Order: sequence, then structure tokens, then C-alpha cells
Amino acid sequence: MKYLFLAIMTLQSFIMVAQDNAFYPGKIVPDDRGIHINAHGGGLLYHDGTYYWFGEHKGAHSSAAFVGVTSYSSSDLYHWKYEGVALSVESDPQSDITQGCILERPKVIYNEKTGKFVLYFHLELKGQGYKAARVGVAVSDKVTGPYTFLKSYRPNAGIWPINMTKGQRLDKTKASDFEHRGNKDWRKAVVDGLFTRRDFSGGQMSRDMTLFVDDDGKAYHIYSSEDNLTLQLAELSDDYLSYTGKYVRIAPGGRNEAPALFKRKGTYFMITSGCTGWKPNTARLFTAHSIWGPWTKHPNPCVGIDARLTFHSQSTFVQPVIGKKDAFIFMADRWTPENPIDARYIWLPIRFENGLPILEWFDKWDLSIFEKD
Ligand code: DGJ
Repeated sequence: MKYLFLAIMTLQSFIMVAQDNAFYPGKIVPDDRGIHINAHGGGLLYHDGTYYWFGEHKGAHSSAAFVGVTSYSSSDLYHWKYEGVALSVESDPQSDITQGCILERPKVIYNEKTGKFVLYFHLELKGQGYKAARVGVAVSDKVTGPYTFLKSYRPNAGIWPINMTKGQRLDKTKASDFEHRGNKDWRKAVVDGLFTRRDFSGGQMSRDMTLFVDDDGKAYHIYSSEDNLTLQLAELSDDYLSYTGKYVRIAPGGRNEAPALFKRKGTYFMITSGCTGWKPNTARLFTAHSIWGPWTKHPNPCVGIDARLTFHSQSTFVQPVIGKKDAFIFMADRWTPENPIDARYIWLPIRFENGLPILEWFDKWDLSIFEKD
């Protein structure tokens, strides 16, 4: 009897959340089947009146990819329909995306010129930990897929970032010149491109990532590079399937992960995290008037209780609310590495104060918050 009562209560709480037009950060987010959404480290794409949510499928015991990238659709951001696996990992052990690889932070953008949907993700080859540090690219004619895997590699091999000086490019200092990582001289060398040079011929490391499409249709890939010490921002080709070769280093030596980029009134904003594995840390905020920089660092955008730990989460994406002025949703993951599938989604409204984003905690909120002063 007691168990029946508990089962009914649990079912009821699922239904209540599913039917409610509200966000409950940190709570279960049931899809149309009543199952907690399994799309971690993800991002949204708004296309033809519908939002699509793409993310990492995670299991109960491992964060490695045994399914692939999942997708969900919604017309209101509250109710989500499961659309299936957009990109499947492959059974061929020779494939870069073989089952058991690490496939993280997938993001999808739509290319107006080709009419194709392009999916980028962070890929680590199976059995190699986080050593490969590659970007993976897949493409589809249909938003929910199936996506065809095209390639994985390290970007910008043989090309210098446009904001690296001639002196930095010619510098002969090598990582092996330092007995210890982390001292003052080493930090200066990192800022001066120690690892950009190391990876010059093989391509730049590409781990945590996002994509951003600007108003003029140009798209950019922003990724943690150089041993996670420095972010890089690289322009994509017109079809979004490769790079133009124009890229910059951002916040050299700043150890930023989890970049989420958005634009408001001509200013570019980027929220990132520090590098503490699955554990939360303090969010960082950068702004720029040109996407190429300079990027200025600001104080932690989070305020209130647990602001120092980004409300126990790590950024993944910022989604503009279509049809509402100045309305942006900050999306983050509250990781649970002991049971990865149970990781929670922290979606919070962004408020602007003196032109800068402010994030504060809400147990429950809805889109009407953007109509308030
Ligand atoms: C933090 C990253 O942001 C995640 O995507 C994941 O790579 C973990 N590190 C792994 O420890």
C-alpha cells in the first residue's frame, strides 16, 4: 500500500511538472514519455517555429557515449517531445565515434545557403581519456537527423591565430624547458603561445565547445584549447563544414571551459566556467564589441546563494527567447558523475544590469519574467 502511494505521488509529481508552464531548475525534466530528458552538455536550435534541444545521451554508470546525440523538440520551451537519436555512435571499432568514445557538448546550427543542419561536438577517441582533444563534425538534411558523421580532427593545423605576434610565433621556448608547470615563467610562456606553437603542425586541441551564428550568417566555433588553458574562436567556412583559417586566442592561460556565447545590442557576451572536472566552480563573464576581441573579463555574473558555484552547475548554452525582446535563457548542467544520466538542467533567466548579465537562482520561473521591469 505504502509503495503504491509512493508510486502515485512520484507519477503525479512528474505529470505536474510536465503540464506546468514553468521551469524548475535542478528538478527532473520529463519529456513527452515522462522520462527525464537525456541531452546533457547541450544546446538549442530554433528552426521554423520550433526549438530543438540536442545533447549528450548519458548512461547510469558511465559518461562515455554508448548511444550518441539525442534530440527533443518544443514549441514553448516547457514541453519537450523526444525526437530520437540524432547522431548515433557506431559499432565499427575503427570508427572515430565508436561506442565508448567520449562525445560531449554537441551543438547544431542551420546553414541557410546549403539548407543543411551541421552538428559539431567534442570528441575523445575511445580508450584514450581526454588526449585526442578533437572536434567532430556531422551533417543532416533534416533537423532531427539522422546526422552523417563526416570527420574528427584538431582544427587549424599549420595556421597561426591572428592575434599571435611575430615574436610569439618565432619564440623557441618549449614545454620541456620547464621543470614544473604552473610557475610564473611557465604561465608567461603559456600566455605567449607555448602550446599554440606545440600544436601548430598537428592542429589545435579542441575540447569543451559551442557554436555561434552571427547576424550576418557567419558561424564560429569556440573551444577550450591548449591543454584547456586558452580558449580559441575560429570562423567557419560558408557551408559551416570546415574553417576559414581565421581564428583568435581568447583569455590565454585563463583556464576556461564550457563556453556559451550570445549577442545583445551589438555586444558579444561569453559565459564560461573554470576547469574543475565534473565539480562546479565560479562562472566567468567576458564581453567584446567585435567577435575577434578584445574580450574583457568581468566579475562573476551569478549573485545570491551558491553564486560562487554557479548554483552547482556548469554553463553549456545561452538561448534567446524568440519573439521576446532582450530575453535570454542561461542553460547549465548540474553533473552527477556517480549516475551521469541523472544530471540536472539549470535554466535561469538572464537579467541585465548596467548592460551586464546577472544570474540569480529561482526554484521556479516562467517566461513572463521577461515582461517585468
Ligand atoms: C568538464 C567539461 O566541461 C565536461 O564537458 C567534461 O569534459 C568534464 N570536464 C570531464 O571531467
